[in-house]
Amino acid sequence: MKRIRVKAARPYDVYIRRGMLNDAHTMIRALKKDARCMVVTDSNVAPLYLDALADSLGADTGSFIFPAGEQSKTLATFGNILEHMAASGFTRADLVVALGGGVVGDTAGFASACYLRGIDYVQIPTTFLSAIDSSVGGKTAIDLAAGKNLAGAFLQPSLVLIDPDVFQTLPAPVFNEGTAEALKHGVLYDSALFETLATGDFKKDMESVVYRNVELKAAVVQKDERDTGERRMLNLGHTFGHAVEACSGFSLYHGEGVAIGMLMAARISERLGVASPGLSDTIRQALLQNHLPTDCAFDAEALCRAARIDKKRMGDTLTLILIKRIGECVPYDIPVSDLLSVMKMAVGTA
Ligand code: GLY
Repeated sequence: MKRIRVKAARPYDVYIRRGMLNDAHTMIRALKKDARCMVVTDSNVAPLYLDALADSLGADTGSFIFPAGEQSKTLATFGNILEHMAASGFTRADLVVALGGGVVGDTAGFASACYLRGIDYVQIPTTFLSAIDSSVGGKTAIDLAAGKNLAGAFLQPSLVLIDPDVFQTLPAPVFNEGTAEALKHGVLYDSALFETLATGDFKKDMESVVYRNVELKAAVVQKDERDTGERRMLNLGHTFGHAVEACSGFSLYHGEGVAIGMLMAARISERLGVASPGLSDTIRQALLQNHLPTDCAFDAEALCRAARIDKKRMGDTLTLILIKRIGECVPYDIPVSDLLSVMKMAVGTA
């Protein structure tokens, strides 16, 4: 078993081990022996893992299941979880267990942050993407009509349990979203990780891949828990990626948007002389090798209109994350008025 201590203001452990879901109850009981637990999960995950986990946690374990998908990450679901906790007489001595991907973790985490002004929660991520990203770092949120993740709170989990075996049941495009975020960690901080992933042949040792990614994420969270500095580097590929996702009417997965967005960032980095020629080819090959999309089907004007939703919250300057070389990135401020010309570089029409 691998362990990473996240030294946030309130420190906690992330454990990674194949097969760990079978004895997650032991780890949870070691954390909070007598707590009543409520497992929050979704309609995809519940039939696979809920009964075994709830039974092992004890007879008075409750559960809350909501329909799988981003469309459930709403005020309504959040409110229903809170009402369910209140009706069950949950107290601050009790514990929420978020069992699922990012939507479950973010929504259950936000309910935990708000119920009684904050109760403890455990993250058991069931997707590669949530294991290496959203389950670690304490960002919790739901979507509003105006956009994704617009209401939320920072609350670090008390424990994160990652069983890479559960990724085996993921549809390929959902697994590949995790690979996009893992490649992003490699591009940001670790060229050896990038090279391992770029082969597309890394699935035989998922424990090690998850470990290295969580280690990198934890290091960033420790430096900047509240997302005011270094943590913003994790936005590599996201400004462009969100615009691509929005233009696709969210038919592209988030990780697919990040893949395309990272390649766009690479093209701009080359054009602005931040990176040497060849960088975008290297990234493109790594994405293709992992069955991730590389082509942006939208023109610069449409992408700009989509990106302007983010821009409003940033004043007159937009901070892009550009790539110097694999393993080293830099923040790069542009005036918002330059967004269209930069977007043209990103899609290769300037
Ligand atoms: N997903 C980016 C972050 O946790 O900051």
